[in-house]
Amino acid sequence: MGEINLLDRYPQAKRPIDERGALVTTAHRQVARQFGREYFDGERLYGYGGYSYHPRFWQETVKRFADYYRLTNESSVLDVGCAKGYMLHDFKELLPGLNVAGVDISEYALQHSLESVRPFLRIGNATDLPFPDNAFDLVISINTVHNLNLEDCRQALKEIQRVSKGAAFVTMDAWRTEEERERLLKWNLTALTYMEVRDWKQVFEEIDYTGDYYWFIAA
Ligand SMILES: C[S@@+](CC[C@H](N)C(=O)[O-])C[C@H]1O[C@@H](n2cnc3c(N)ncnc32)[C@H](O)[C@@H]1O
Repeated sequence: MGEINLLDRYPQAKRPIDERGALVTTAHRQVARQFGREYFDGERLYGYGGYSYHPRFWQETVKRFADYYRLTNESSVLDVGCAKGYMLHDFKELLPGLNVAGVDISEYALQHSLESVRPFLRIGNATDLPFPDNAFDLVISINTVHNLNLEDCRQALKEIQRVSKGAAFVTMDAWRTEEERERLLKWNLTALTYMEVRDWKQVFEEIDYTGDYYWFIAA
């Protein structure tokens, strides 16, 4: 368990970091942080600039997760910060018997989620997951926990660990060099907690997080 890049098959985007850094304002960030229509499907300065399903995003990555964690049609997976359910949809395409669940704070995202998985998604906060202890074989949370303040990040990681039978994978906004730090600060719209990789590792240690993790590095 530990640091591993399980998103190495996720398509790499060419991000207009300097352009966004020059234009984005506190007002854009405030709107983005509401995780509503503007964030997902509004203009690019508020977030995704259109968050649409395409199999090329998650199809190879869910295979990577399935292989690494040896998932079968009898396994269960929770996605914390599931947005419109795209990753869970691709999991179900790969393993139709898989028991999936998703939690997200955004009503907009759930209302516009894929119908194939909508019954498995619910509104919720990562800090208080609405599931019993040891409920899932694998809990995944991609680019979500860092949207909380540090205390809530700790709480969310504890929650992820509590509802997992053991396996978990999270990604966090982070940097390893000064250049990466500057790029992240320009690119970031919603994260409240971002730090150097070694500081995140210390947080994981402090709360006895034993799952896997990797980083969102702005490139
Ligand atoms: C950058 S998006 C990532 C979405 C998806 N995991 C992906 O990788 O495509 C962050 C997601 O976290 C959700 N989110 C933000 N704060 C949250 C919280 N406290 N609890 C649960 N979800 C949250 C947002 O609504 C949004 O869907």
